[in-house]
Amino acid sequence: KAQLSFPGGTAEFPLLPATAGASAIDLSSLTRQSGLTALDYGFVNTSATQSAITYIDGDAGILRYRGYPIEQLAEHSTYLEVAWLLIYGELPTPDQLGEFDANIRRHTLLHEDLKRFFSALPHTAHPMSVLSSALSALSTYYEGTLDPNDPEMVEINTIRLLAKLPVIAAYAHKKSIGQAFLFPDNSLSFVDNFLKLNFGNMAEKYDIDPVLGRALDQLLILHADHEQNASTSTVRLVGSTGANMFASVSAGINALSGPLHGGANEAVLDMLGKIRDSGEGVEKFVERVKNKDAGVRLMGFGHRVYKNYDPRAKIVKESADAVLDALGVHDPLLDLAKELEQIALSDDYFRERRLYPNVDFYTGVIYKAMGFPTRMFTVLFAIGRLPGWIAQWREMQTDPHTKIGRPQQLYTGAPERNFPR
Ligand code: MLT
Repeated sequence: KAQLSFPGGTAEFPLLPATAGASAIDLSSLTRQSGLTALDYGFVNTSATQSAITYIDGDAGILRYRGYPIEQLAEHSTYLEVAWLLIYGELPTPDQLGEFDANIRRHTLLHEDLKRFFSALPHTAHPMSVLSSALSALSTYYEGTLDPNDPEMVEINTIRLLAKLPVIAAYAHKKSIGQAFLFPDNSLSFVDNFLKLNFGNMAEKYDIDPVLGRALDQLLILHADHEQNASTSTVRLVGSTGANMFASVSAGINALSGPLHGGANEAVLDMLGKIRDSGEGVEKFVERVKNKDAGVRLMGFGHRVYKNYDPRAKIVKESADAVLDALGVHDPLLDLAKELEQIALSDDYFRERRLYPNVDFYTGVIYKAMGFPTRMFTVLFAIGRLPGWIAQWREMQTDPHTKIGRPQQLYTGAPERNFPR
C-alpha cells in the first residue's frame, strides 16, 4: 500500500501491478477516501485516460453520465436526450432536443447502393459483423474533399451515425432472417422507428403498449456509455490516429462483439437455454461452475470494475418483469435467471469473489420477449453505446493533449542473444 498526502489528510491506496492498459494506482479508492479528485491535489496519472464524460465508482456501484446518476436518467430521460448530454456535456433545452431529433429523422435513409452491399454477405453472417462492415462502407459515401475531422463534418457525421446505425442494424436483422428491408418512417420517434424497421406492422404491439418502447429506450440509456471499456478505448485509440468517426466506431463495434464484452448478453441466454435443456437444475449448474468443470462458465456475472451490484443490472431486472407482464409472456428463462442469481448471491463462493449480476444478465430475456433473435442482442448494445463512442471520440479529438495512442509495453522476452550461425 502507498500513502498520499493532500490538503486535509492522507489516503492509503493499493498499488496495482503496472500492466499494459491498467492504471498503476487505484484512483477510485483514493478519491473516495479523500473526497477530492486526483486532479484537485495535482496528482496526474499520465497513463490514465482523462475524461469528463462518465464516472464510475465500482466499489460503491455508482454510475453517472456527466454527473447525473444513471437511475435518474433511466427514469426521467430519453435516449436522444442522454445522447445529447453525453456528446455536448449538458442536458438539452426543449428546442435543442427538438432540432436534434428532427435532424436525426432527416438523415435516416441509406443510399440505394449501400443496400446492395448487404446482398454480398452470406445470410449466415452474424449481425454484428454485418453492422461493422456496413458502417465502414458507409464512410465511403462521405469521404469527400472535406476533412472528416473538420468541426462541421464532425457535427454532420454525428447526426448521420445516430440516424443510420439503427437502420443498418435493422437491415442486418432482416438479412439474417431473409426478409425484405423496410423504409424508415420518419414520422415516428427514434425507438418506434427502429421497432418498425425490425418488426413492420407487428410493431403496432409496441404502440398499443408503450411499456415496451419505453423499456427499449431505457435499455439504450443504460448502455449509452461506460467510460474506458474495451470498445470505447478502441474507438479512442483508432480515432487518435486521425481516422474518421465511422472507421473508429466500426472498430469499436468489432471490439464489442466479443463474448467477454457486449457479446455476453447473447452468451447469457445461451447459458440459460443450456441449463433448461440439460434438465439438471440450477443448483447442479452452480456446483459445476464452482468446480470449474470444462466448458461451464457463469456468464453475465462479475465485472472488471464493479465489485458490487452493477447499478444498471438492478434497473434491467425490474424492466424484465414489466416487459414480460405487458406482453403477457411467461418465460421460464427469466425464472431460471432469478433462481441462478438468488443461489449465487447466497453462496460464499460468489460473495467472496464479489460476483454480482452485470448489465448483460437480464437484458437478453427482455430482447427475446420483444421478438429479437439472440444474435441481435449485441447489436442492440451497440446502438445504445453509440452516443458514448461519439462523445468519447469527440472529447479525445478536441483535447489539445491527445497524441497518437500507443499502449505501454513491458518487455518480457529473451535478453540480447547472438545469432547461432
Ligand atoms: C460495458 O458496459 O462496456 C461493460 O460493462 C464492460 C466494461 O465496462 O468494461
